[in-house]
Amino acid sequence: MAGPKGKVYIVGGGPGDPELLTLKAKAIIESSDVIIYADSLVHPDVVAFARPDAEIHGSKTLNLGEIMDITLQAVREGKTVARIQSGDPAVYGAILEQMQILEAEHVDYEIIPGVSAAFAAAARLKAELTVPGGSQTVIMTRVEGRVSMPPGEQLRDLAAHGCTLVLFLSITRTTGIVRELIEAGYPESTPVAVVYRVGWPDEKVIRGTLADLAEKVRAAKITLQAIIIVGQAVDPALLNPGADLHPDVSTSHLYSEDYTHLYRLGQSRRGAAQATPSATDEP
Ligand SMILES: C[S@@+](CC[C@H](N)C(=O)[O-])C[C@H]1O[C@@H](n2cnc3c(N)ncnc32)[C@H](O)[C@@H]1O
Repeated sequence: MAGPKGKVYIVGGGPGDPELLTLKAKAIIESSDVIIYADSLVHPDVVAFARPDAEIHGSKTLNLGEIMDITLQAVREGKTVARIQSGDPAVYGAILEQMQILEAEHVDYEIIPGVSAAFAAAARLKAELTVPGGSQTVIMTRVEGRVSMPPGEQLRDLAAHGCTLVLFLSITRTTGIVRELIEAGYPESTPVAVVYRVGWPDEKVIRGTLADLAEKVRAAKITLQAIIIVGQAVDPALLNPGADLHPDVSTSHLYSEDYTHLYRLGQSRRGAAQATPSATDEP
């Protein structure tokens, strides 16, 4: 069944800095007839790429029905709609309910990925979230708020893995987070970092440990729009050459001179007649 002639793009608007938009996202924003953007989290400079004659709506005061009414009216008129979400739309983007309506109305739509605040925060911290020997797993989660957590996804359950944790939507719950993580076995000395409004002019970075996280967040008066990262990965000492590191933390083999893989022979195997690199490009 043919749907309306227009098209909807669900666009990842990134964490703030407009230079973190993908080229595709920028081109779509520049050419769209209608822009609906999450004005609580998407930087105004991202929307500034819109055509001067584009119809622009902030979504923070709109409910789902109102957003979809604007969207459906536009596509029925053959227009292109850019629905700009913060970060990457797939992470706490509340896009499923929008897509269900677009599907029901046979509207053509596409998702354009963006830089999640999780990765912008890691970049700001100069952190590799998957440090060999530290953690090879990253859990992105939130603490329970108005949305309840499914069974097995309480912080204490996830903490049992001891891996790198990235927490969205949780900055007002630092006291409970610290309590749960310590009860689950994270030492009080576990490194923690908070990045508030990464990519915005008023960005703040806090580094500490589980022992002082709650107090530092309180002192900085951060109550929203922050990412919390917990684990050895955000230990600033990792960046110091020759520093006395956590015994479990090592560096990747991938670029070590004696590591052989699909694309490169390790030093000791160079010149060996029958050297057969392993079929992997993984560290
Ligand atoms: C509704 S979620 C959207 C997440 C978004 N889709 C993403 O991928 O970054 C909102 C939460 O994302 C985080 N967040 C979004 N933008 C941020 C920013 N610029 N700096 C720090 N955290 C941010 C905060 O945890 C905030 O409470």
